[in-house]
Amino acid sequence: MEIISQGAEAIIVKEKNNVLKKRIKKSYRIQEIDERLRKTRTKRETKILERAKDLIPVPKILDSCDKDMTIKMEFIDGLKLSEVLDSLKNKYEIAELIGKQIAILHNNNIIHGDLTTSNMLLKKDKLYFIDFGLSYIDEKTEHKAVDLHLIKQALESKHYLYFEDLFKSVLKGYRNNSNNYEAIMQRLLKVETRGRYKRKLH
Ligand SMILES: Nc1ncnc2c1ncn2[C@@H]1O[C@H](COP(=O)(O)OP(=O)(O)O)[C@@H](O)[C@H]1O
Ligand SMILES: [Mg+2]
Repeated sequence: MEIISQGAEAIIVKEKNNVLKKRIKKSYRIQEIDERLRKTRTKRETKILERAKDLIPVPKILDSCDKDMTIKMEFIDGLKLSEVLDSLKNKYEIAELIGKQIAILHNNNIIHGDLTTSNMLLKKDKLYFIDFGLSYIDEKTEHKAVDLHLIKQALESKHYLYFEDLFKSVLKGYRNNSNNYEAIMQRLLKVETRGRYKRKLH
């Protein structure tokens, strides 16, 4: 057993070829609210991973328990995209793939809810999306536009040297695969002029 990540919400433990994602208690939250949140996020993540697995690369679920707030899934032996994107020769191709995979999720009304390059793992030419704890099913363009706004902000803050061309490539991949590109782009403009949904930097 080896701890591979200890984030704000969850601890990730590696066990042979699997990982356990366990949502840990937050003592600053009222106990009942904390339990409910952790349960909901574990359930959501399991449900969406099951749906997404036929659409884009995601870790396979092996077991899940919303009582223990734990998900057992396949270990992806890849690189965290946030750490390598800037130095990749094919960074714009990968950015296009990000856009393509977001479009495929959105065509199926899956909103990721936490799109950052820290929630993407690159293994050879496959780009795995992970961390679906804030995901949900919704068909509205508003939610799809906000998802795009989040990845835009993530690129701007973590990959600022290449931000403009990276985001252009994301949109290219999105446009080529989305079933509702124009409407979602119009909505994105509205979201941005409204200026809500600023990601908290942490
Ligand atoms: N299935 C997996 N295979 C390999 N590494 C993983 C897997 N799931 C999570 N990780 C690693 O753990 C980190 C945190 O996992 P994540 O699901 O994003 O939880 P958090 O809510 O803490 O961000 C990821 O950035 C990744 O490095
Ligand atoms: Mg994460």
